[in-house]
Amino acid sequence: MPHHCLSPILGSSLWLASVALMVQLAESSAGNYRRPVPGGKAHGFTERTLILLDVNTRSPIKTLNANFLSLQLDPSVIHDGWLDFLSSKRLVTLARGLAPAYLRFGGKRTDFLYFHNLKNLAKHRGGPGPDYYLKNYEDDIVRSDIALDKQKGCKLASHPDIMLELQREKAAQMQLVLLKEQFSNMYSNITITARSLDKLYNFADCAGLRLIFGLNALHRNPDNSWNGSSALSLLKYSASKKYNISWELGNEPNSYRQWWATVNGSQLARDYLQLRNLLQSVRFYNNRGSLYGPNIGRPRKTAILLLDGFMKTAGSVVDTVTWQHYYIDGRVAKVADFMKTRLLDTLTEQISKVLKAVKTHAPGKKVWLGGVGPAWAGGTNNLSDTYAASFLWLNTLGMSAMQGIDVVIRHSFFDYGYNHLVDQNFNPLPDYWLSLLFKHLVGPRVLAVHVAGLQRKPRPGRVIRDKLRIYAHCTSFQNHNYVRGSITLYIINLHRSRKKIKLAGTLRDKTVHQYLLQPYGIEGLQAKSVQLNGEPLKMLDDETFPELKPKRLHSGRTIVMPPMTIGFYVVKNVNAYACRYR
Ligand SMILES: *[C@@H]1O[C@H](CO)[C@@H](O)[C@H](O)[C@H]1NC(C)=O
Ligand SMILES: *[C@@H]1O[C@H](CO)[C@@H](O)[C@H](O)[C@H]1NC(C)=O
Ligand SMILES: *[C@@H]1O[C@H](CO)[C@@H](O)[C@H](O)[C@H]1NC(C)=O
Ligand SMILES: *[C@@H]1O[C@H](CO)[C@@H](O)[C@H](O)[C@H]1NC(C)=O
Ligand SMILES: *[C@@H]1O[C@H](CO)[C@@H](O)[C@H](O)[C@H]1NC(C)=O
Repeated sequence: MPHHCLSPILGSSLWLASVALMVQLAESSAGNYRRPVPGGKAHGFTERTLILLDVNTRSPIKTLNANFLSLQLDPSVIHDGWLDFLSSKRLVTLARGLAPAYLRFGGKRTDFLYFHNLKNLAKHRGGPGPDYYLKNYEDDIVRSDIALDKQKGCKLASHPDIMLELQREKAAQMQLVLLKEQFSNMYSNITITARSLDKLYNFADCAGLRLIFGLNALHRNPDNSWNGSSALSLLKYSASKKYNISWELGNEPNSYRQWWATVNGSQLARDYLQLRNLLQSVRFYNNRGSLYGPNIGRPRKTAILLLDGFMKTAGSVVDTVTWQHYYIDGRVAKVADFMKTRLLDTLTEQISKVLKAVKTHAPGKKVWLGGVGPAWAGGTNNLSDTYAASFLWLNTLGMSAMQGIDVVIRHSFFDYGYNHLVDQNFNPLPDYWLSLLFKHLVGPRVLAVHVAGLQRKPRPGRVIRDKLRIYAHCTSFQNHNYVRGSITLYIINLHRSRKKIKLAGTLRDKTVHQYLLQPYGIEGLQAKSVQLNGEPLKMLDDETFPELKPKRLHSGRTIVMPPMTIGFYVVKNVNAYACRYR
């Protein structure tokens, strides 16, 4: 094991394994790194500030799931018709780009979902009834289904543009209905047919995603126990098709009161036990098919109470414990809101609360952020789907990783509203490209970061809201452009000035590959397109990604982060002990 030693200028400071870095740049007191100022004025003051960065390369502080960055798909795709288009080549390509990952089929509508074992092509696809559909469109879908049925293995379709256009029109109408449901919290029942399940599974399978299916927990008997009849028929059907699916039961059970149902922790634990027994009774899922839960919402008092009651009994029934977090009310959010450090930091407290509750009953049990999105209520047009929201997403990944959250599931991959990674023209949005880079460059081993050049000491009782956030992991082993032992840094600069970061200690004088992500277009921060090292990112066609080309920084060069940007930096050939071996 290499002896680790800090460069002398770093002194004997401690490794910071804590969450955000206490980097405050405005008031410099780090005399060491000050260049003499001509005239002694505070002119060009921020330019001078230099951060020294080092990473503990000896051992990871956390090791995450290989599917750390995962995806959600909302059952609303049955309602608005997009389910029929999941076989689209482009959508599958985009999903495949983010594999390996889990695909969680769930959301608010999970608890309004009923399975019917029907295979009729057109009539029973669910949705609001034939009035909404155009006759030609119906026929097109049926034809497309028949063509798909003839394919073996992964089934892919190339839908004609006109068909997609009709679907977009239909979805736009449906979006109003879906948003209204969301605002009023009154959801209509959705039927999921055998055929719909086939389409969903085909999508996950084609894209290399592992499907997690959320079962309806609001289906209750008069004595308030869970009625698993619909679930059992779904399990039997999917077992007959040998679908390798994992399961959840219910979504945010702590808020069932709004639908006049009360389910406490011990009741939900019994329901999970019942589901576990159902799984055992279906031979295919006997030794397969994990169970995740309880999917509580924001861990406030009632949710934590429920989690506590649940864990007492069901701690050993679930394979991992799940919860969800949405940052901001999409109806009231403004662009500046998305970049407030106070907002970014809300996650840390929530994670701590959940981890504490889990640890009390099941120490060592893995915890997943089983649903996270920038905003609830569908998000905000031209905001939660733009570069402005990307800081929040990357910080979610970084903070969750630091605190050992095993998997983070993004709501959503593709959806109505404005929280999605891919829009309804099948165009990847900034958060998609960010996720793609993350998958390519960031591995599951998390490293402690050390920063010197702190310009202000944190005072007790006072939290410094960091605008510069630096995270480090071992570079992904899946990436064959980099040898084992390389390190990936990802950095968020929320300052309105550029920041300079110098690699020190073990990282000193290494060659660095920069992947700087900036907005592209006149909308500035509210752009829906991004550029990588100055080159706009765009799909070349339905099957081809653009090359993710790094910019090479020569050894010893300072990393310069422009104002309000996000960047990934692969430090090559560090030969980090923590990153060398499997
Ligand atoms: C949904 O279905 C359940 C069970 O069949 C029923 O109790 C409930 O009233 C239905 N809800 C709506 C909004 O139709
Ligand atoms: C469960 O629901 C089904 C219909 O969805 C119903 O036929 C059955 O009677 C219910 N079971 C109980 C025990 O109430
Ligand atoms: C089924 O899925 C689980 C996790 O989702 C995975 O560990 C397992 O290898 C899969 N089994 C098969 C046969 O694909
Ligand atoms: C939880 O709810 C069940 C009914 O579903 C009830 O019988 C039980 O007493 C409740 N437990 C607690 C601790 O409130
Ligand atoms: C969002 O931005 C696009 C173009 O940037 C513009 O055409 C559209 O009107 C905007 N929508 C809203 C609701 O502001």
